[in-house]
Amino acid sequence: MFWRERSTQVESFDSGARPLAEIAAGYRQLARANRAFFFSHPFVLHLPRLLGAEQCRSLTLLDVGAGDGLLGRRLEAWAARRGWRWEVTNLDANPQALQLNPGARNVTGSALALPFPEAHFDVVIASQMTHHLADAEVALHFRELWRVARRAVMVSDLHRNLFLLSLVWLGSWPLGFSPTIRRDAVISVQRGFRLDEWRRQAEAAGIPSSRVWLYAATRIMLAARKPA
Ligand SMILES: C[S@@+](CC[C@H](N)C(=O)[O-])C[C@H]1O[C@@H](n2cnc3c(N)ncnc32)[C@H](O)[C@@H]1O
Repeated sequence: MFWRERSTQVESFDSGARPLAEIAAGYRQLARANRAFFFSHPFVLHLPRLLGAEQCRSLTLLDVGAGDGLLGRRLEAWAARRGWRWEVTNLDANPQALQLNPGARNVTGSALALPFPEAHFDVVIASQMTHHLADAEVALHFRELWRVARRAVMVSDLHRNLFLLSLVWLGSWPLGFSPTIRRDAVISVQRGFRLDEWRRQAEAAGIPSSRVWLYAATRIMLAARKPA
């Protein structure tokens, strides 16, 4: 059964250099799904709960696996509407993805060896990035997020369940996905995680008092706060 074990199939998002127009089309389709599935909601709901409103007034954030930077733009705009200042730096292994977000704070790099010193950003986040890694890489990825965070980490990804798999496949038609992106979407759920898997990985990463939970029956979330 697919929820017992993660798929090892590769997504088109992982297939190296491709024509920029093709990459841009992929991120446009992903953006439609992200908006439809409210992908920024867990962050805007849970970061203020985790840190408190006072600490949220001014934050530097690192988005690991940021792709075209849509999440960072949405978080900055959401914070600005509250009179808060959030500055997001986007890191991605694929420089072509970052090219789709000109003028932003963009850094090409690996989620497994973040090119920043310890405690460099107030908050380090990742959205739908962790499932691109192999099981053996996840604890190192979590350890890297934790290392460069000064206050907190928050990670969101796909929960590997039949409900989400059906939703993604059915939604791919009204969302106008190409056959390639539809295949990616299905694989990404099959590469998603279950709660006990992330709890074990967070423990292996040495993150103390992390919380792992299911969000809206579709997402798996991990959050941890550093002592003041
Ligand atoms: C599905 S996209 C998610 C983009 C965005 N975070 C979102 O929520 O829509 C996954 C992104 O992770 C990036 N990625 C995959 N493996 C990575 C790694 N080892 N280090 C950094 N980025 C990686 C990919 O290039 C891609 O842009």
